[in-house]
Amino acid sequence: MKTFGMLAFAVAMVLGASLAGADEPAAAQDPASSQEPAPASEPGEEAIAAAASAGPGPGYRDLRRITLLQGDAAAGKAKSELCAACHGAAGISIAPNFPNLAGQRADYLYWELVEYQSGAMPESAMTPLAASLGDQDMRDLALYYASLPAGRALAQEEAPAPDAALLERGRQLFMEGEPGKGLPPCQGCHGADAGGHPLASRVDREGHAPWAAYPALRGQNAIYLQLRLNAFRTGQLHHSTNDFVMAGVGQRLDDDSISALSAWLAAQGP
Ligand code: HEC
Ligand code: HEC
Repeated sequence: MKTFGMLAFAVAMVLGASLAGADEPAAAQDPASSQEPAPASEPGEEAIAAAASAGPGPGYRDLRRITLLQGDAAAGKAKSELCAACHGAAGISIAPNFPNLAGQRADYLYWELVEYQSGAMPESAMTPLAASLGDQDMRDLALYYASLPAGRALAQEEAPAPDAALLERGRQLFMEGEPGKGLPPCQGCHGADAGGHPLASRVDREGHAPWAAYPALRGQNAIYLQLRLNAFRTGQLHHSTNDFVMAGVGQRLDDDSISALSAWLAAQGP
């Protein structure tokens, strides 16, 4: 019953946004045709409401009508040498501020690469790297990393091991959210096992997979998670409909909830 409520919440959120933009053309199918992102009007502040009322504008990519990714993981392996310098030969990154890619959802990896390639995040280390990739390369690389067995988060040097109370707080926030602050349970969108959206593989009647590009979070590096959650919290990520969904969650986080959630997620093994 509880799980159903959470699912219903997530579904309602996505459907709400979907209805608002239903008459807009789908930009997601063809990354090459998408326009140069313009700054979204009010990033962070009531991002979901803004997205729902304004509908998709030229500034971001609509990921609600994507189709499940196709590509060749073996070809991706052959293209991954450059990536291994930072993300490791097995998709487990060499530094805790870099994300692990092994076992991540393929559709999420692909659409992140598309986003980097669009130049929407010029400050990211990935922007010049993604610039040299073709669309097929990004598909193949995404499927390759998704096919690798998930690993463990890297230990944080010089940081004290998280204590049991912090981990329990993180687990509770992930599973239950914090209704008093309007913070939804993370598991509704990232799965009870933090392995991705529960409906990630669901294809609707029109052949779209609206939840395929929702990321897995378990075993991700704690420092990277903190960086990303702070970026959502401060409205820096507003380049896709999925960014808007997560930004609405991020603005309800604070330093304490970010440390607790990051510590707990990083502690979840493969
Ligand atoms: C110089 C180091 C470096 C190299 C080389 C590198 N990356 Fe990255 N990658 C990063 C960093 C740092 C981030 C986090 C960037 C950010 O938050 O903007 C990242 C993020 C990503 C993400 C987003 C993951 C997520 O969880 O959101 C993907 C996908 C990715 N890289 C794929 C690749 C692929 C494929 C290659 C090879 C073509 C590659 N990277 C090469 C440093 C690197
Ligand atoms: C309503 C759905 C929804 C809820 C609830 C939600 N998320 Fe997300 N989250 C998303 C989506 C969609 C993305 C992908 C955004 C993108 O494309 O960059 C995301 C991305 C993320 C990322 C970035 C992952 C990476 O590899 O860079 C983190 C970290 C994250 N969420 C953590 C959380 C936490 C912690 C909670 C609970 C406090 C939470 N999310 C609740 C939908 C949600």
